[in-house]
Amino acid sequence: MSTKDHILSYLKERKGNWVSGESISGKVAVSRTAIWKHIHKLKEEGYDIASAPKKGYLFHQAPDLLLPHEIREDLDTRFLGKGEIDYQREIDSTNARAKDLAAKDAPEGTLVLSEAQKKGRGRRGRYWFSPPGEGIYVSLILRPDISPIEVPKITLLAAVAMAEPLFHLTPLDIRIKWPNDILVKGRKLAGILTELSADTEVTNFVVVGLGLNVNMPRFPPELERVATSVFMETGTYYSRITLLREYLRQFERHYDILLTAGFGPVLKRWRELADIIGRRILVEMINDRCIGTVKEIDDHGVLILEDEKGGSRRILSGDLSFL
Ligand code: BTN
Repeated sequence: MSTKDHILSYLKERKGNWVSGESISGKVAVSRTAIWKHIHKLKEEGYDIASAPKKGYLFHQAPDLLLPHEIREDLDTRFLGKGEIDYQREIDSTNARAKDLAAKDAPEGTLVLSEAQKKGRGRRGRYWFSPPGEGIYVSLILRPDISPIEVPKITLLAAVAMAEPLFHLTPLDIRIKWPNDILVKGRKLAGILTELSADTEVTNFVVVGLGLNVNMPRFPPELERVATSVFMETGTYYSRITLLREYLRQFERHYDILLTAGFGPVLKRWRELADIIGRRILVEMINDRCIGTVKEIDDHGVLILEDEKGGSRRILSGDLSFL
């Protein structure tokens, strides 16, 4: 732990009480001038810490930022977020950065996080609205020992991992839309972009990017009919850190299940949250489109559709709209 983090955790332990420079210097073993400088730095980062002559320092609250040491506090995962958290105030795309790091051997469990994205990317090259401080934009680096054709299961897993905290921590009536959208009343709340590097049979790494609209008060006109945020739906401001921690916890839990017990339990939960069977849909694929009724999501996460001529279609990926 750095000296600055050490001072911070000491002040937090004594939240609500003034702490003298002398007692901090006794605890952290640095001079009082050094303490002043570190606290000045913390204030610049956005920490609300009062200081007064003769009294010392008083911790009020942490800034509303996804700072790595704030995330790690109370994070009870085994590996996700336990190693490096690559954190930026602004970045082009957390997925692009995560792919770079993964290609340079970043270990499984590395997180890339940013307060804002200039070129946040969605599926099919769409852009992802990523204003500063209002959403969660995070990419996870994974190195699962599974074949590349099984990787789409991780996209479904990520949707479940994000749906669970939304289900438990908010009053929202959320639905998962195959394969990777989380919707509220038909509007998009979260999206997942999974990218991989693989040789024929071997998965080198997987990057799972999640965008969650948390506290946006509004969207630009071109998105306002299709997107929504937790704040817009509930009128309540939600802690991004709490939602992120819970997503990581749920992700790791389901990921462990996937690798040890198989896809069955994850798929079961996905089906419960998806409410898609029997619905009439349009699926748009890269070079094709198809209208039909959803028969099932099979054990590999593939969408089985009965088309309008009564034929059965297996659809691995595409964009789905309800009719
Ligand atoms: C989609 O629904 O089309 C997927 C959207 C995925 C957006 C996230 S935000 C964090 C990560 N970085 C990106 O550039 N994209 C993903």
